[in-house]
Amino acid sequence: MTIKRIDHIAIAVEDLNQSLGFWEQALGLHVHEVRNVPEQAVDVAFLPVGASEIELVNPVTTDSGIAKWMQKRGPGIHHICFEVDDIRQTLAELAEHGMELIDKEPRTNKDGKLYAFVHPRSTGGVLVELYQVP
Ligand code: CO
Repeated sequence: MTIKRIDHIAIAVEDLNQSLGFWEQALGLHVHEVRNVPEQAVDVAFLPVGASEIELVNPVTTDSGIAKWMQKRGPGIHHICFEVDDIRQTLAELAEHGMELIDKEPRTNKDGKLYAFVHPRSTGGVLVELYQVP
């Protein structure tokens, strides 16, 4: 298995426009796309940085997974996502190392990307996402 790059760092925000005061106005990054993801009840803004992206995630309801996470922990870094060349092999190797997987089998998003999450209990508190672009 090969970790190819950091695909994105997801940051939970309470107010998308307000957060852009830092990421866009002050830091000078540019929003490439804003998208509503109804199945996760979030609005997401993508800001490319080199080969990676900052992904600002704003819950639009109070009962989604990420909304509850934010109620407990406040806004901030939610997860880090690595692009891998072979997600099934990566999951198998992580399991061999005794790592706890949230998704034992990869899920598929709308763009056909395979993704899976590794539990923060196994990573020192960091929710880790894996991505494979088909
Ligand atoms: Co992600």
